[in-house]
Amino acid sequence: MTETLNIERTADLVAWLRGRGRLAANGPVECAVLAGGVSNRTVRVTQADRSLVVKQALARLRVKDDWFADPRRVHREALGLRRLAELTPPGSVPRFVDEDHEHHLLVMEAVPEPHENWKVRLLREGPDPDHVRQFGRLLGTLHARSRAEAGELREVFGDRSFFESLRLEPYYRRAAERQPRARGFIDELIAETRGIQETLVHGDYSPKNVLVHDGRLVLLDHEVIHFGDPTFDLGFSLTHFFGKALHRPAQRERFLEAVGVYWEEYSAAAGSPAKADGLEARAVRHTLACLLARVDGRSPLEYLDETERAVQRQVVLDLIPCPPPDIPGLARAVGERLAG
Ligand SMILES: Nc1ncnc2c1ncn2[C@@H]1O[C@H](COP(=O)(O)OP(=O)(O)O)[C@@H](O)[C@H]1O
Ligand SMILES: [Mg+2]
Repeated sequence: MTETLNIERTADLVAWLRGRGRLAANGPVECAVLAGGVSNRTVRVTQADRSLVVKQALARLRVKDDWFADPRRVHREALGLRRLAELTPPGSVPRFVDEDHEHHLLVMEAVPEPHENWKVRLLREGPDPDHVRQFGRLLGTLHARSRAEAGELREVFGDRSFFESLRLEPYYRRAAERQPRARGFIDELIAETRGIQETLVHGDYSPKNVLVHDGRLVLLDHEVIHFGDPTFDLGFSLTHFFGKALHRPAQRERFLEAVGVYWEEYSAAAGSPAKADGLEARAVRHTLACLLARVDGRSPLEYLDETERAVQRQVVLDLIPCPPPDIPGLARAVGERLAG
């Protein structure tokens, strides 16, 4: 049996990278274990002026609940990384370097320093409209271009088992179990989204997975990418603006405005399909489902306290019997409830 490689034992990692020819045989190497993610080990390795980031998928995720996932998902991420480089504007994702199926590793270039995690910046300063526009444009571009290549991408990214096990089960099903009043709404949404195969769906489109370098957004963390329902990405991402509007009352107006700016820029980049029947209404319903999931699912927003979670839950339970028909309407409805 092969000895298991743990990349956080950095001497072993450096030996492995040298064996693959990814580092020069000699010369000092600096390693830093990067914190932040819950589902991977992540280590930055620097030699001379080049930095790599190595990711290794964990079989048990670092959350309070027991949550297991197949470490082979890192290879889905590697595939996603390579395809995203072709489907998004230059520099939108780190460059792919290597992958190892034996130890479930992915190697990519590091986003250069200085950079900052966008979630951290949003919580500190509120939203910068230029960043919000970039975030909308990037998603709209990904959806538009992948829709145009549906024939091929549906084959390559058609397996949705990671979306089921990392999103529908732990976020949606779990929230529905804990909130019986939302069960019918969520069950219906799950059934609907399972039947839709329109675009690539990133599946983890969150400010936490975005680094800002030199004013540009760089997207990370593609292990849930699949061919499916674009409105899941919209709902998943919009949830972060609403959650922060709740958590940061001083910035509330700006976060609610960011919702409209994001949607406008997304629709412009996504083209006419964004105006198609039902798409915006479905995005609203995914936003409501994700807002509930980020309170009652397996991965709650860690910056919300119990009181804030209760408010977010109540807003969702108020709105699901008759969801607003469009995204600006959702921003208004949430805004009124947060104010009241
Ligand atoms: N290419 C990269 N360059 C610089 N930092 C990175 C890179 N990839 C990941 N990181 C850092 O590691 C953290 C976790 O990576 P991520 O891909 O989001 O893994 P997880 O699935 O564990 O959330 C990121 O938030 C970021 O700080
Ligand atoms: Mg992440």
